[in-house]
Amino acid sequence: MTEILDGEALAAEVREGLVAAIERLADAGARPTLATVLMSEDPASETYVSMKQDDCAEVGIEARDIGIDPDAPAAELYDTIDDLNADPEVNGILVQMPVPDHVDKRRVLRRIDPAKDVDGFHPENVGRLVAGDARFKPCTPHGIQKLLAAAGVDPEGKDAVVVGRSDIVGKPMANLLMQKTAGGNATVTVCHSRTDDLAAKTRGADILVAAAGAPEMIDGDMLSEGVVVVDVGVNRVDADTEKGYELVGDVDFESAREKARAITPVPGGVGPMTRAMLLYNTVKATAQDAGVEVDLP
Ligand code: GUN
Repeated sequence: MTEILDGEALAAEVREGLVAAIERLADAGARPTLATVLMSEDPASETYVSMKQDDCAEVGIEARDIGIDPDAPAAELYDTIDDLNADPEVNGILVQMPVPDHVDKRRVLRRIDPAKDVDGFHPENVGRLVAGDARFKPCTPHGIQKLLAAAGVDPEGKDAVVVGRSDIVGKPMANLLMQKTAGGNATVTVCHSRTDDLAAKTRGADILVAAAGAPEMIDGDMLSEGVVVVDVGVNRVDADTEKGYELVGDVDFESAREKARAITPVPGGVGPMTRAMLLYNTVKATAQDAGVEVDLP
């Protein structure tokens, strides 16, 4: 029987665990506050940000929702970040990616105070992660680590294949899986758009993380029996539905589940965990700011 890894259920557990930490912070006079900044009219980005806001409300994190006209000068975004950095009531800052082409993404990431960088994308935080001294683990790879652990999948000694080399998922995922620590110790292969004979690589995977952003690019033929499949893809494809589209992953679920020991669904697998780990990082940032020790789930 293939186990379906339920990200919704595990994310609910993480949120529950955070409530205790948030109450402890409240006793110390600290209310976690997350500022989300959206400079886009992309419907998917709008949906992601509004879900993040809803999650905050559910656990008792104060959410500030800042929208910037995508045609506004880049300086408006940089100035907004400066204001949020200087605001002692703001513990976490998230600038939803992607930003418009006229905005320098790297400048945005460098501008966010590393202590408020709950995405973990600032070069200082990337460096700390690589060095094995993470301050904030990026939310998607961290959520995947939690999903694997909850399913009793220990990466130690396993061949892990990450398909995709993005700064948000592929690179930090590979790094976390190779770290000499619990949840790591895997032998990691990173594949990408220039990889020769992708199927030969993916067939060698004990753990496969698909994060290429290409609908159903990995099917059962590209997998070996007993693999654990983690599908990060959220792709809108045209479909005869009310909305005119449906969401599919980077993995062809039906053929992959025939081979897999365990697999994440889309939606309901990785996505909810990404959002839960954003709350986790916001609580962690607040505890660090307040100098209060809290137990994190
Ligand atoms: N766009 C897609 N995923 C993410 C994420 O995890 N954080 C931010 N800031 N933008 C994203």
